Amino acid sequence: MTDEITRRLALASTTVVTTVLGMGFWTEDAAAQTSPAATVLVTGASRGIGIEFVKQYAARGYNVIATARDPAKATDLQAVAAAHKNVSVERLDVMDHAGIDALAAKLKGTPIDILINNAGIGGGGANQVFGKINFAVFDEVMKTNVEGPLKVTEAFVEHVAASAQKKIMMVSSSQGSIASVRSASLYFYRASKSALNMVTVNLAKAVKDRGIIVGMVAPGATDTDFMIEVRGRIPLGKPSERTAGMIAQIDTFTMEKSGQFFEWNGEQVPW
Ligand SMILES: NC(=O)c1ccc[n+]([C@@H]2O[C@H](COP(=O)([O-])OP(=O)(O)OC[C@H]3O[C@@H](n4cnc5c(N)ncnc54)[C@H](OP(=O)(O)O)[C@@H]3O)[C@@H](O)[C@H]2O)c1
Repeated sequence: MTDEITRRLALASTTVVTTVLGMGFWTEDAAAQTSPAATVLVTGASRGIGIEFVKQYAARGYNVIATARDPAKATDLQAVAAAHKNVSVERLDVMDHAGIDALAAKLKGTPIDILINNAGIGGGGANQVFGKINFAVFDEVMKTNVEGPLKVTEAFVEHVAASAQKKIMMVSSSQGSIASVRSASLYFYRASKSALNMVTVNLAKAVKDRGIIVGMVAPGATDTDFMIEVRGRIPLGKPSERTAGMIAQIDTFTMEKSGQFFEWNGEQVPW
């Protein structure tokens, strides 16, 4: 009798699940929430596009490791973490190689499905006018935008290799597209993103045999602190919309696309 009750209960629960699936309740978000939950690590998560990645992946049920170079000052991020138990905040300055290694060691054994190298700086337009180039800022931009993502990727590649999704994503910029240059500006910001793209293409080839997908996504001109100099002069997209677009690209990044570069809206960026 007890066996019969157990069998009927099992049948009933199967029917409920089947019905729910049939009604279209099964979404990609639900898929992302299967046990164990997928994990994403975001650099530069204190504000701008980085904090949007945190909010949107958290809402999808991911475990989010949100990194900031000064967590105490990242009050908006702390508020997001307080509201979501699946968000943890860690200190990470992408220029601090020892600090990157220390965080990788602390997280040893934690699979990271998606590593998002988002942290980046522009360097300021006035510092990169030919004839008045500020070479100290040039170095800082290259260290942040090129060395940073490469070092972070070196440190966390085993965490990604141990995950289910195995994705490493760079937030690049169409400013790094040599084919798209129409007039001279942003010498070293552009150079940094071109260099990041080359680093990424190399990485894609280096880790392909391990099943790791490496790609570039770009938000287009987006209304963050980064664009403060041009705010009001050119149209800027909303961070929430542009980040959702990049997440859609990341969702559909397959091994066939590894080493390629897509705008938030799915357009492929020319080299
Ligand atoms: N906004 C755009 O129109 C646009 C367009 C194309 C590409 N992008 C790219 O998108 C990415 C994010 O830019 P955003 O618009 O969100 O800029 P943002 O609002 O200025 O935010 C930049 C983020 O990077 C962090 N960061 C800077 N240096 C760092 C370091 N050494 N270590 C760790 N974190 C560091 C900042 O942290 P702090 O708060 O500590 O300074 C901040 O969280 C960048 O890679 C940028 O190149 C932006």
